[in-house]
Amino acid sequence: MNYERAKAYLSKRGQQHLLDYYDELSATDKETLLNDIENTNFSVLAHVGQKPKKLGKITPVNAVTSSDIKRRYSQFESVGLDFLSEGKVAAVLLAGGQGSRLGFKGPKGMFNIGVNRFLSIFEQQMNNIAEVNAKTGRHFHLFIMTSRANNDETIKFFKENDYFGYPRDRIHFYIQDVAPTCDYSGKVFLDEKHRVSLAPNGNGGWYSSLVNSGLARIMERDGIEWLNVYSVDNVLQRICDPAFIGATIIKRCGCGAKVVKKVCADEKVGVLCNEDGKPAIMEYYEMPEDLKNKTKKGELVYCYGVTLNYLFNVHELNSTLSGRLPYHVADKAIPHIENGVRVTPEKPCGYKLETLVVDMVKMMGSCLAYEVERDREFAPVKNATGTDSVETARALLEQNGVIL
Ligand code: UTP
Repeated sequence: MNYERAKAYLSKRGQQHLLDYYDELSATDKETLLNDIENTNFSVLAHVGQKPKKLGKITPVNAVTSSDIKRRYSQFESVGLDFLSEGKVAAVLLAGGQGSRLGFKGPKGMFNIGVNRFLSIFEQQMNNIAEVNAKTGRHFHLFIMTSRANNDETIKFFKENDYFGYPRDRIHFYIQDVAPTCDYSGKVFLDEKHRVSLAPNGNGGWYSSLVNSGLARIMERDGIEWLNVYSVDNVLQRICDPAFIGATIIKRCGCGAKVVKKVCADEKVGVLCNEDGKPAIMEYYEMPEDLKNKTKKGELVYCYGVTLNYLFNVHELNSTLSGRLPYHVADKAIPHIENGVRVTPEKPCGYKLETLVVDMVKMMGSCLAYEVERDREFAPVKNATGTDSVETARALLEQNGVIL
């Protein structure tokens, strides 16, 4: 794209300010900026200023409860182990987030969760994986989604740690796609005078980014039918849990979600429910008070919080690719160029546009709510202190016998 074409292209979209500093740039920087403009998906800006969709008819879900699981454990486990042994299941680690609440510079998985020894979150999760592979005698494929910002450091860290004993040819890194950031009126920010401001497009981008990266060929080649997607921040995460896989398959669901009983109505987790008869996840900030507090026989009716550990059927996922995931606008502090100077605001000043994995669940026909014991499987590291923090996660790790 040359300057004239870029100018016309941007004017049509109300974004011509992106060329404000063009005349000041060196020849190389001019080229970089024109490339950025050509490769930016401006259509996502249509979501700015849109009113949130009205909620449909919300009803609670029936979960496979932890006591059901205890009763049928060997049946569930045996089906899951069969699928794993046949190589039909792979895992996807979502590690493209910015971890801003934790305030740790660098990929969140490199954070030291140890006390008397160095134990990174990545290592802790890889240790959890080792238990499953010991049972099947083979290593499932592990896809790791990074971001442009943390990809090189993540790969270097895995390499330096000899991939935590995992076979190199079973680990595949890929970079998640990006979306432009903008001010409150939808004007795209410049990150530098010659760079459009782009940020990871949210954790819902994991499957399309996987396909765009070309890695889907491994799934086709090796006959992978199920993908277990999990977040980097839960240090008690059980990955490719055979009983979870078996239960989802036996119940003939297109996807499964590991859920925990909420500790209180206000707990900040998304809640698995049905919307107009289809599985849906209501984020805590969009849940109406009456539904949040609704009880029956003293128990919360909408009690199942999601833990960001999902199992997706690949065939059904492919059908979601043709549909459009909605973008959510997240109010964030975004460094940008203002009056010719780069500013780093401390307070939110604009929007990041993100797709969410919870919206993918809505696109699946059915979702099994699989209730796990939170003290054994849910220790998120979101904040430095307080709720869901380094302190709470360390306490739970120790409770589960991990030496820190
Ligand atoms: P969070 O929603 O906690 O976001 O991510 P975050 O960016 O890590 O942290 P904050 O909100 O800035 O503090 C949940 C999971 O989704 C991944 C994260 O790495 C984490 O595993 N994620 C999030 C991505 O992979 N990409 C994204 O764009 C956002």
